[in-house]
Amino acid sequence: MIRLLSWAIPLIHGPVTKAFHGSFAWVMGFVAWEPLSIIRKVNTMNILHVSCSPRGQSSESYRLSQKVIGHLLQRDPNAELINRVVGAGGIAHVDENYAISQQSLEDVSQEGSFIQSETLINELESADVLVISTPMHNFTVPSALKVWIDHVARVRRTFNVGAQGKTPMLRDRPVFVAIASGGRFSGERARQPDFLTPYLKAVLNMIGLHDLNFFTVEGTALGPDAIAQARTATDQALHTYFHHHEAQ
Ligand SMILES: Cc1cc2nc3c(=O)[nH]c(=O)nc-3n(C[C@H](O)[C@H](O)[C@H](O)COP(=O)(O)O)c2cc1C
Repeated sequence: MIRLLSWAIPLIHGPVTKAFHGSFAWVMGFVAWEPLSIIRKVNTMNILHVSCSPRGQSSESYRLSQKVIGHLLQRDPNAELINRVVGAGGIAHVDENYAISQQSLEDVSQEGSFIQSETLINELESADVLVISTPMHNFTVPSALKVWIDHVARVRRTFNVGAQGKTPMLRDRPVFVAIASGGRFSGERARQPDFLTPYLKAVLNMIGLHDLNFFTVEGTALGPDAIAQARTATDQALHTYFHHHEAQ
């Protein structure tokens, strides 16, 4: 209907000059379409996928993240997916001015790491759902993920510091963390400490992300049977999670 209207308006205004005719139609077209495009944008779910394995798309954590994203897309086929690949070391460590700013009352530079930080925070802010795929490295997050965190956990931007300690500044949204590890770090058969999940919980909480959902494929170094078993158990857990949330 609105499309018809924006086509019909130039015809109705036959006597007007061609130039005015064109611009009037353009303006009316804009007026008619702009609210629609805003509604479309508001309704589109944005998924930000931060992938952190040095093995890229061949990695187990990436594979698991695709399962998570598959479920999300099944729920909302029009969702937009933004891939932020950090695993191959695409993000530089934070620079000197950024480090000084973190311990100062104001930012001492709006360049270098500050720009990178702003880009990554904007990406995070426009995401309705965050998916992080990551391996366990030496009982915790790989350094590539730590670099991403160092850029998005920024004082005065994503958290504040006051007498009560640190207060988050981001709005909450669902976060899915897809983890792969060579050995097991959870359950009765765990033979190593886990500094990965408690660390991610603490740092994501600090900036305002509390709706955290962890899925793991543990024991990738324990042979094909162990991997197959772990994948099946995790697929089942994912199915149960999404089935349960769809029913709500
Ligand atoms: C530098 C490095 C450190 C690792 N440290 C651990 C570890 O502490 N615990 C563990 O279970 N696996 C460890 N692994 C093995 C990886 O977690 C395992 O290979 C995992 O499946 C990799 O996931 P990806 O395929 O998503 O990269 C380590 C691997 C690397 C490269």
